[in-house]
Amino acid sequence: MLQDTFGRVHDYLRISLTDNCNFRCTYCMPVEEMQWMPSSKLMSKEEILKMAEVFVGLGVNKIRLTGGEPLVRKEFPEILQGIAKLPVEATITTNGVLIHKHLEGLKAAGVRSVNVSLDTLNREKFQKLTRRDQFDQVWENILLLLEEGFRVKINAVALHGMIEEEICDFVRATEKLPIHVRFIEFMPFAGNHWSSKQVVTAKQMLDLVTAEYSVEKLVDEKHDTAKKYQVPGFAGTFAFITTMSEHFCGDCNRLRLTADGRIKNCLFGKEELDLLGAMRAGQDVIPLIKTSVTRKHSALGGQFTADYLQADPDKIDNRSMITIGG
Ligand code: GTP
Ligand code: 5AD
Ligand code: SF4
Repeated sequence: MLQDTFGRVHDYLRISLTDNCNFRCTYCMPVEEMQWMPSSKLMSKEEILKMAEVFVGLGVNKIRLTGGEPLVRKEFPEILQGIAKLPVEATITTNGVLIHKHLEGLKAAGVRSVNVSLDTLNREKFQKLTRRDQFDQVWENILLLLEEGFRVKINAVALHGMIEEEICDFVRATEKLPIHVRFIEFMPFAGNHWSSKQVVTAKQMLDLVTAEYSVEKLVDEKHDTAKKYQVPGFAGTFAFITTMSEHFCGDCNRLRLTADGRIKNCLFGKEELDLLGAMRAGQDVIPLIKTSVTRKHSALGGQFTADYLQADPDKIDNRSMITIGG
């Protein structure tokens, strides 16, 4: 069991398969030229599966594959197949644009829930944000996932100047579609030029929604990152991921493995341990995993406090989001 010094048990692992992506969202990828990791530095398919097996032996029962964009990794189908053989709930977070090519594989692997990143419902804004004209494909794929019976969560990063105009459109989309939209407070990562002024809080967003709709608070599940709501009678729900205004670290059960095989004990953790190097040198990675868990800070990687207005992005030492995978 992977228990930290605050009594939190870690049974959910997020594995990043690649730092590459077929979109170019500026809030995620450093504006400065991205240097992709050379493939020799990435965990191979075999190494990923070996790592996953070790974590499962230590009590992990849920594995999420992330990126960059996980579906651009060539061996994605085989990696997913391998993960699906383990006694875990397997799932992915994707930008959705390649989903139609992977539906059968996802079904065969027993994946039931897919999280799709989509920050706008407007085709032009989508193109500006992602620098790709792929809104229609992503939307079609969301509908395809629903038709095929997947539970679909949509991740919309709340970008100041954009979310205010769109939040009610997203909520309106939950009227007929059983989608679960999560509005995510904008978080600071290397290269994304975060400032507290750009954060739109859950409270501010909820005020915008309740100006148009009466809403009901739903019960949140244990370890949920999101605080859920519904307009009574609507097919879907909406929620807020409140890392900045009200973190949920007290209940954290997550560990991360980067595409280059480093364990991160927190989304904002700066101390990484090189599991891949150890594995390649024939060493046991279990002591490193346990050390990493023991070193986990109580909240936010120990890098800033609950008062996000005081957070200084220049003092936060972390990777870019694209190399963490969310
Ligand atoms: P579920 O397992 O479906 O609840 O998904 P998830 O929220 O764990 O994962 P997803 O990859 O869809 O991430 C959605 C948003 O939540 C992203 O912005 C992530 O960065 C954020 N997120 C995911 N895990 C954590 C976490 O451990 N801490 C914080 N603060 N944010 C997280
Ligand atoms: N703040 C909040 N969420 C972010 N994501 C990417 N960058 C940020 C950020 N700076 C989200 C993506 C994706 C998820 C893995 O993380 O939208 O859905
Ligand atoms: Fe866990 Fe770190 Fe996320 Fe807090 S910020 S919930 S401690 S991963």
